[in-house]
Amino acid sequence: MSIEQAYEILERSIIYYRGAPVGTAAACDPNPVAANYEECFVRDFVSAALVFLLNGRPEIVRYFLDTVMHLRGRQQVQRGHSSSGGLMPASFRVNAAGDGLDADFGDRAIGRVVPVDSAMWWMFLLRAYVVATGDWDYAHQPDVQTCLREILDLYLAEQFETAPTLLVSDGAFMIDRRMAVYGYPLEIQALFYGMLLTARELLLCTGAERAMLDMLDLRIGELRDFVRVYYWIDRVRLNEIHRFHSEEFGPDVANVLNVYPESIPEWMDGWLDADAGYLVGNQGPGRVDFRFFSQGNLLAVLFGVTNARESDAIMHLFEQHWDALIGEMPLKIVYPAVAGKEWMHLTGSDPKNVPWSYHNGGNWPVLLWPFVGAALRTAREAMAVRAIEAVERRLGDDNWPEYYDGKRGDLIGRRANFFQTWSAAAFILAHEILAHPDRRAMFNLFAFTDTAANLAPQAD
Ligand code: GLC
Repeated sequence: MSIEQAYEILERSIIYYRGAPVGTAAACDPNPVAANYEECFVRDFVSAALVFLLNGRPEIVRYFLDTVMHLRGRQQVQRGHSSSGGLMPASFRVNAAGDGLDADFGDRAIGRVVPVDSAMWWMFLLRAYVVATGDWDYAHQPDVQTCLREILDLYLAEQFETAPTLLVSDGAFMIDRRMAVYGYPLEIQALFYGMLLTARELLLCTGAERAMLDMLDLRIGELRDFVRVYYWIDRVRLNEIHRFHSEEFGPDVANVLNVYPESIPEWMDGWLDADAGYLVGNQGPGRVDFRFFSQGNLLAVLFGVTNARESDAIMHLFEQHWDALIGEMPLKIVYPAVAGKEWMHLTGSDPKNVPWSYHNGGNWPVLLWPFVGAALRTAREAMAVRAIEAVERRLGDDNWPEYYDGKRGDLIGRRANFFQTWSAAAFILAHEILAHPDRRAMFNLFAFTDTAANLAPQAD
């Protein structure tokens, strides 16, 4: 398999509108499993955008940012709702006549899931673009500033919350089907944290608007500390939960979320060695989703939601459970899979999400790049090299599938597309970064030097 092949796929995937490159199709498969894989998905474009930025082609990223910014909030009034200006689409396509763009805000998507992650990824890319090019004028344009404010208005709107985390419905992110990922899924919280830090850096707040910055600072610190306390699990914390008293009332209790020790799943027994730890998949009243979600944990490491010791423990976990979490094709999207009655209840008997397939414990090559980023961040280069070697053994020969099935990820996904753009882009990113150490600065795009570390007291 060659890097040239991956570049070919990326090039082929570019979508043009009125002569300008505005995004990339999710897959270049001549027979995609669903029609919308020809569209540009906001979250999928991130992997491609990082390659374009790495290779000195920022124009396409800028066209994409403009395009999505202008599409935002365009959903028609539907069933009693008019969409907020801060809502960004999951995907868009050039219409059949070629003279307009159609966007999907969850009004066409399977299951009508709402893409909460889109505006978060958009804002991340906006900062990536300005950091990579130095074009701060773009971020300071009035229309971009208005867009940032509208996004914050939506994401910080007060509802019925008692926690600093963000409440979302099922399928609001990469796992865009019913998988019991409603509530406060980790991936959304990690992205939310990254988004708030980004906004803090990009917003031009002067005069009275200073209050907005103060509010952001407060929320960022609270969110980080909350995730570090309530999502973190290692042996020490597991022991605490194992002996938790429940039904405690009042402000000063130990078992704040009223988690019943009986809810610790059997597979956790013996799973963590003394040096391992991770952030659980979801938290809510009486509800810990103990499953390990790779993307949420990796983004937490990259954005610095976790401190250095915790990040190291997460990478140690990958090392400890290499076969289960990486297997033959990096990496497992979630571990373990749900099966039997649990699969029926949690997925709605979804045949695409049978155990160890697709979102339910499948292996996704796109996760290679955040893994490489997190491995480098924690000075574990050997793990990054080992993962990329696994990808090199098969991905190109298998025609760049979207995902793999099986406990070890050794089967091409039953309903996977071939020539999936983000599989190819993730390989390019990982390959280029490992081959050219000077290009590792790209992962600085996730680092917010003067902000996160200095806000509010830290949990550690
Ligand atoms: C699937 C994935 C989603 C991705 C889309 C396009 O729906 O679950 O995360 O954005 O395909 O690749």
